[in-house]
Amino acid sequence: MAHEVRGVIARGKGAEVAVTTVIVPDPGPGEALVRVRACGVCHTDLHYREGGIGEDFPYLLGHEAAGTVEAVGSDVTGLEPGDFVILNWRAVCGQCRACRRGRPWYCFATHNAAQKMTLTDGTTLSPALGIGAFAEKTLVAAGQCTKVDPRIRPEVAGLLGCGVMAGLGAALNTAAVSRGDSVAVIGCGGVGNAAVLGARLAGARKIIAVDVDPGKLAWARDFGATDVINSREADPVESIRALTEENGADVVIEAVGRPETYTQAFYARDLAGTVVLVGVPTPDMKLELPLLDFFGRGGSLKSSWYGDCLPSRDFPMLVDLHLQGRLPLEKFVSETIALDKVEDAFAKMQRGEVLRSVVVL
Ligand SMILES: NC(=O)c1ccc[n+]([C@@H]2O[C@H](COP(=O)([O-])OP(=O)(O)OC[C@H]3O[C@@H](n4cnc5c(N)ncnc54)[C@H](O)[C@@H]3O)[C@@H](O)[C@H]2O)c1
Ligand SMILES: [Zn+2]
Ligand SMILES: [Zn+2]
Repeated sequence: MAHEVRGVIARGKGAEVAVTTVIVPDPGPGEALVRVRACGVCHTDLHYREGGIGEDFPYLLGHEAAGTVEAVGSDVTGLEPGDFVILNWRAVCGQCRACRRGRPWYCFATHNAAQKMTLTDGTTLSPALGIGAFAEKTLVAAGQCTKVDPRIRPEVAGLLGCGVMAGLGAALNTAAVSRGDSVAVIGCGGVGNAAVLGARLAGARKIIAVDVDPGKLAWARDFGATDVINSREADPVESIRALTEENGADVVIEAVGRPETYTQAFYARDLAGTVVLVGVPTPDMKLELPLLDFFGRGGSLKSSWYGDCLPSRDFPMLVDLHLQGRLPLEKFVSETIALDKVEDAFAKMQRGEVLRSVVVL
């Protein structure tokens, strides 16, 4: 049996997204059908609409979601109808060279559903990040469902499925911020502010937030930044050095995705410090640095995909911390919206008015 549901489709490069009817198959082997309860609007959905990720239109957008399992394929174990889950785009294979070496967060062969969701005329849809959750129901690989405590509100839980996890994990997993570190975060949207929160959770003693938007900096203070710098008004490298006894920060997290902000991150870090790039650059961008500076400053330059998270390890733990009042994830939810308001949410995102708009179904 197939299910007819409403979903948000990007039909072509730059075209406005629209709600339309989507046909979702019943789950086959290894798959799960999920009744979506909430799905955040992420910058990556906008990238899809603009053709920045691929040309496989039409896309079924949405990938930052939580929901309830409605049905599972015949061979699926450990997941049942009624389970409350966060959807992930890292269903690890267990077999590739990264998984076999005990580093599954680098898995090179993550799972997605084998069957395709379609339009009513049979056109195959490409689900965003293998999820496609701006829809009443979606079909995913069973491994893309991570069971968590159902007491968390769906619109909060879903955020762990992408951007908030990316920022938290950049600080906690990739940079491995530890107690007493100084941390600077450049770019304080949803991702950067999650990195601020991650640094605070890890016990950083100084957390310096940098942005060009005073509103974002006010949010950063609320998430735990000890100092804020508007880089339109002050040089961020000099300011970060001034705040760290002229040394630079132990960890600098770049959450914009541009060569100029990356260069700031590079020079704002202490000797032997760590830079983490979590912002996503576009294919035309180039970085030029004196090789001697790279050599002479030591330390490590890393990038972070999805916060180097392992959903089965990190999602239930972060949900528990939230339920204990130690991780105020609800502050990322700027507004909840209906399925037909995704295009408006993109505009608000571009104007910097929201950290996250979340579709509630
Ligand atoms: N690595 C990953 O796994 C991953 C996951 C999700 C998103 N991302 C990426 O992270 C980045 C941030 O995402 P977001 O949702 O927070 O976006 P966003 O647009 O909400 O935030 C970007 C922030 O950067 C600020 N900014 C812009 N130019 C700046 C400058 N020159 N100096 C300082 N700040 C500047 C903006 O004011 C804004 O607050 C994007 O590139 C996004 O694609 C990466
Ligand atoms: Zn693998
Ligand atoms: Zn995302």
